[in-house]
Amino acid sequence: MAEPTQRSDSPTSTGTIVGIASRKAATAVLNAHVAVLKGTPMRRAIGDALMAGGNLGGKERRFIAFATRELSRHLRRLNLSASARGYTTSKLHLLQDQAIIRYALWRRDLCGAGVEKIMTEVQLPGPIRPRGIPDQVIRAELERPVEIDFGATPLDRAANLHSFPTWLAERIAAIAPEGELDQVLEALNREPTLTFRVRPVGTRDALVDELRAKGLEVEACAELPDALRTTDESRAIFDSRWMKEGRLQVMDLGSQLLAAFCRAQPGQTVVDYCAGAGGKTLVLADAVTPTGRVFAWDHSEKRLKEARSRVGELRLRHVSFPSPPRIDLADLVLVDAPCSGTGTLGREPDQKWKLTPKQIDELTVTQLGILRDVSKQLRRGGVIVYGTCSVLRDENEGVVERFVASQPEFKVEELLRVWPHRLEGGGFFGARLIKS
Ligand SMILES: C[S@@+](CC[C@H](N)C(=O)[O-])C[C@H]1O[C@@H](n2cnc3c(N)ncnc32)[C@H](O)[C@@H]1O
Repeated sequence: MAEPTQRSDSPTSTGTIVGIASRKAATAVLNAHVAVLKGTPMRRAIGDALMAGGNLGGKERRFIAFATRELSRHLRRLNLSASARGYTTSKLHLLQDQAIIRYALWRRDLCGAGVEKIMTEVQLPGPIRPRGIPDQVIRAELERPVEIDFGATPLDRAANLHSFPTWLAERIAAIAPEGELDQVLEALNREPTLTFRVRPVGTRDALVDELRAKGLEVEACAELPDALRTTDESRAIFDSRWMKEGRLQVMDLGSQLLAAFCRAQPGQTVVDYCAGAGGKTLVLADAVTPTGRVFAWDHSEKRLKEARSRVGELRLRHVSFPSPPRIDLADLVLVDAPCSGTGTLGREPDQKWKLTPKQIDELTVTQLGILRDVSKQLRRGGVIVYGTCSVLRDENEGVVERFVASQPEFKVEELLRVWPHRLEGGGFFGARLIKS
């Protein structure tokens, strides 16, 4: 099985950001967390809190997004710490009180902030209402040393320490490399690094020099020839002319590895079957060059609209959107399948608490259904690349095994496992399936 193992030592964005919490920022974080607890998707909750926050600086805005993700990311551990102090979730009837206790404990236990600093962020009046817990209680809890029991078994300990539902920690433990569960869970809790793909192909190193000459902090990713990452927290790169010219495409390293695993060649006909907003469509289009063609398709017309607009902006005339997507003409079909996203929880940590084992079962049914539909139309000798951003066996090796068992004309040519603790950039899976 192919497995890229190079590990970058570049700093992630979590290191320095926690020092700049203000009272205004804390208010926005608490409001966003309460909205998440009420069921608002995290991105929207953060967006709403930033809007309501008024005149916020760039660092405050980044802190708000980061801290909101952190409160969901470490939910189980923060709840454990609160219960050890007698504040179980069932006792805290107001979501605002749950949020304020978690925020204060997060600042102390995971950011290392001092009690006085935390109190300036949360003490009355404000920052959120209604509120049942008085300042002196929060202060007393922050000053009180409490022993936390993380559990007796290694699995309980890992699930509590890294805040994963036990069922999910169990499934990750079942597939994680021997003795590396803690590292995998810790990596899935990391803030994602901002990574780009450079276009045209082969121009990355020259662009790294140009960006650095303009004061932008970037470095080449050793794992791929066209990938680079930012190494500071500034988002100035988004305003650069290279971004506007379409030379930089935001893309996880794992997604780029999966697209590279397709090994699309100049002149080939490739179908991007779950094209979504077209991230991998662009990579495939560059790989086949205008001597080849890409047919992009997705069952969501809304997502495909975005792909169409990106392809139009970059004037990629060899990409089209036929319906049906003409799999019969394809040399290669990429099935970047809908999945649990358990490999990219760093970006969407609230998913940990929304996913259920039943949903995983349903997803595997969809994944197998898509593979079977595609397989029927593919010519002999054609290749399917099946990919997910899940780390779970059920959605990865499990689906592939069930697929080849029911479609014996397909052989597994190669598997790819991208482990998030071995390579900065999320957990991904790929399988090359060849039809004989
Ligand atoms: C992981 S996302 C694709 C991301 C995309 N390839 C990219 O690189 O930006 C999975 C996509 O599968 C699509 N999808 C879900 N069920 C599908 C189906 N039955 N047939 C085709 N596409 C489907 C979803 O709309 C979603 O856009």
